[in-house]
Amino acid sequence: EDKSLPEAVKIRLDDTDSTKIQLGDGADKKGTRVRVLGRVHRERRQKDITFVTLKDGYGFMQVLFQGNLAKTYDILTLTRETSMEILGELKEVPAGAKAPHNRELHADYFSIPEEWKAAGGEEAITNRVSKDQDPSVLLDLRHLALRGEERSKVLIVRDAVEYAFNTVYHELRLRKMSPPAFVQTQVEGGATLFKLPYYNEEAYLTQSSQLYLETCLPSMGDVYCIEKSFRAEKSLTRRHLAEYTHIEAELDFITFDDLLDHLEQVMCRVLEITLADPIIKQYVADLNPDFQMPERPFKRMKYADAIDWLVEHQIENEETQQPHKFGDDIAEAAERRMTDIINRPIFLTHFPFEIKAFYMPKDVEDPRVTESVDCLMPGVGEIVGGSMRMHNYDDLMAAFAREGIDPAPYYWYTDQRKYGSSPHGGYGLGLERFLAWLCKQHTVRDCCLYPRYFTRCKP
Ligand code: 4AD
Repeated sequence: EDKSLPEAVKIRLDDTDSTKIQLGDGADKKGTRVRVLGRVHRERRQKDITFVTLKDGYGFMQVLFQGNLAKTYDILTLTRETSMEILGELKEVPAGAKAPHNRELHADYFSIPEEWKAAGGEEAITNRVSKDQDPSVLLDLRHLALRGEERSKVLIVRDAVEYAFNTVYHELRLRKMSPPAFVQTQVEGGATLFKLPYYNEEAYLTQSSQLYLETCLPSMGDVYCIEKSFRAEKSLTRRHLAEYTHIEAELDFITFDDLLDHLEQVMCRVLEITLADPIIKQYVADLNPDFQMPERPFKRMKYADAIDWLVEHQIENEETQQPHKFGDDIAEAAERRMTDIINRPIFLTHFPFEIKAFYMPKDVEDPRVTESVDCLMPGVGEIVGGSMRMHNYDDLMAAFAREGIDPAPYYWYTDQRKYGSSPHGGYGLGLERFLAWLCKQHTVRDCCLYPRYFTRCKP
């Protein structure tokens, strides 16, 4: 290192703070000497010059190695993903050339400790993970696939979306709770419970924190949580995980219409906050170039009208291979076809009580159906499930009996109806499904760090 040069300022690759960094113009104006640390994303060699795109998880920077530096053993044998420290002058890119933030780093010094070097040859990362690789191999190598631009952008957007949910909920004065993951009650049906030994008892991994959130209302006001939910789904689909991030909220003293309005407001405000960050906005545009903010109000459609719609559009019930009829569960494929044709967010409401969870109250105007809602998004289908909650003690006990569920372990839930009950409701939103929609991902598996689903529990 030439110690006569100005001291280098350590920056991240996306740092554009003009109070700290000036760009040289290649003539009289000197650029700031900076020190960056990152990994080789790409490299390109010309005769006397090597271009490296460096990445550090925050951004990318074009780096030039010229003269003697370009002839060093380490630069001539540089492999992708090698970590390096580089010092040099930041300059504007020449007219006509393109680089992140329109700048490039002219290296005057670099260092690569031996253990920072990435494997090359047969073992090179480009040989192990490539776009043509079998998806199951890519999932085994997820820790390396995550280094790809698309995979990492989805997870960076995920962080921004989760932050936005927290922000919106606090704007609306909901308080964050952290219900337990080990439980001894079911919420969404026995078929998808993960059972496990718990000391000398049996327990399950939670399917939803809803029932616990309901118990918070009397003392903590409106509440939400962002926790893992677990479902022992025994099928391989684009949108089912065994472990997913469940964003759930519960609101007190509301009507069903209030619930729908709140849900629409939360989703739109989350998008607004997420996309207010220019980097995240760019990532979403890269991943989903056609993305547009959903039109408000969302389309509201009753289940009974959806059945008519499916019949009119000749979309059959997959199971019976007959036209849909009132009472049918609308399966994943039919739901997605309908959502894709309508091509805007839909609040599908008022499902028959037979196909919905025990806790949903009947609609007073049509006792065949419940005050329930699914929010459907083009490309994915259902991303939210919600409803009002039965708040009358006797109705709730009758629902347990109808479903053949022993109410005894639910004493803490039914007690809510004995000590100051209230009309309330809430919902659960699958974060990975929201992201699959926002980032136009084919599957929710690419919207979480290390997906867990039927037959996969590694790495
Ligand atoms: O519709 P679900 O089952 O509703 C509940 O669990 C309610 N107790 C939530 C509540 O009201 N607090 O699930 C809610 C959402 C779905 O719309 C979907 O987005 C997501 O959770 N979800 C899954 N996401 C990934 N993999 C799975 N196996 C999922 N199951 C549900």
